[in-house]
Amino acid sequence: MGTVATAMIPFPSSVSLSISTQKVLTCLPTLSPLRRRVPRKLHLVKATILQDKEEDKVEQEPLESTSGTLEEWCIKIEQSVNVLLTEVVIKILDALYRDRHYARFYVLETIARVPYFAFMSVLHMYESFGWWRRADYLKVHFAESWNELHHLLIMEELGGNSMWFDRLLAQHIAIFYYFMTVIMYAVSARMAYHFSECVEKHAYSTYDKFITLKGEELKSLPAPEVAIKYYTEGDLYLFDEFQTSRAPCTRRPKVENLYDVFVNIRDDEAEHCKTMKACQTHGNLRSPHSQPATTRDESGCPLSEADCEGIVDCIKNSVTPVKTK
Ligand SMILES: [Fe+2]
Ligand SMILES: [Fe+2]
Repeated sequence: MGTVATAMIPFPSSVSLSISTQKVLTCLPTLSPLRRRVPRKLHLVKATILQDKEEDKVEQEPLESTSGTLEEWCIKIEQSVNVLLTEVVIKILDALYRDRHYARFYVLETIARVPYFAFMSVLHMYESFGWWRRADYLKVHFAESWNELHHLLIMEELGGNSMWFDRLLAQHIAIFYYFMTVIMYAVSARMAYHFSECVEKHAYSTYDKFITLKGEELKSLPAPEVAIKYYTEGDLYLFDEFQTSRAPCTRRPKVENLYDVFVNIRDDEAEHCKTMKACQTHGNLRSPHSQPATTRDESGCPLSEADCEGIVDCIKNSVTPVKTK
């Protein structure tokens, strides 16, 4: 680490911020990257400049409590609208697909990958105009979209798309959902991410109920080929990439039958929920592969470094096998 210099500087809109500062900044009523370009004169910050070009650590004086109150109200309104929208969609799906499980999952998965494409569209525009550049967001959202695509392929292999009405409905909802998400994301990225979290929560509970209801039957059925390939074969970089709350290579699910496939899909939805929650704090998202790894195994996965808190912990760690799931 280099020497440290401290200075009072105006807060530039393009500076790379530490997470703690970003949390403070989310108290501002405007959250869109577009609208975060504040006048330089209004915000003086105390910055610690690291001469070896490491990320600047910026501290800001506390904002007035009125900003916090306004922000809290904004969050309440956004989340209430999202919950209402989600409940309306769930009611419609419940009415149309009460006992047609695979058709319901096909519709859900057709819709599920749309927001990630919408996020990438808006981020691509921001990048083109030089407004905001974060490669991690594009990478993670593509990996999320790739994961949802494989859920969709699995449902298609199971026959979920066999009726024209289901395809028509899913594809038209997808078009409407895309434009709605683009507008919502441009106005409030936080609101769009929260809406996606609501949708992912619904997906998780839908699959969880299905597994509880049909578990024994599913165990006697074979896994679709596309699921075996996606979860167990080839390069699993993108499979790790969307799971931002865990280190790469720490989740390698088995696929022996259809029950395993639905358990994996349900667990994927839980990972999407965590990622969407993390995204609601601006600038908070990090690719799991962005974490520094000093050593890697033959498959390119980072090896966990030795770590213990004392002699008892050291001995315990040395005799406990490493869990890979
Ligand atoms: Fe999904
Ligand atoms: Fe999902």
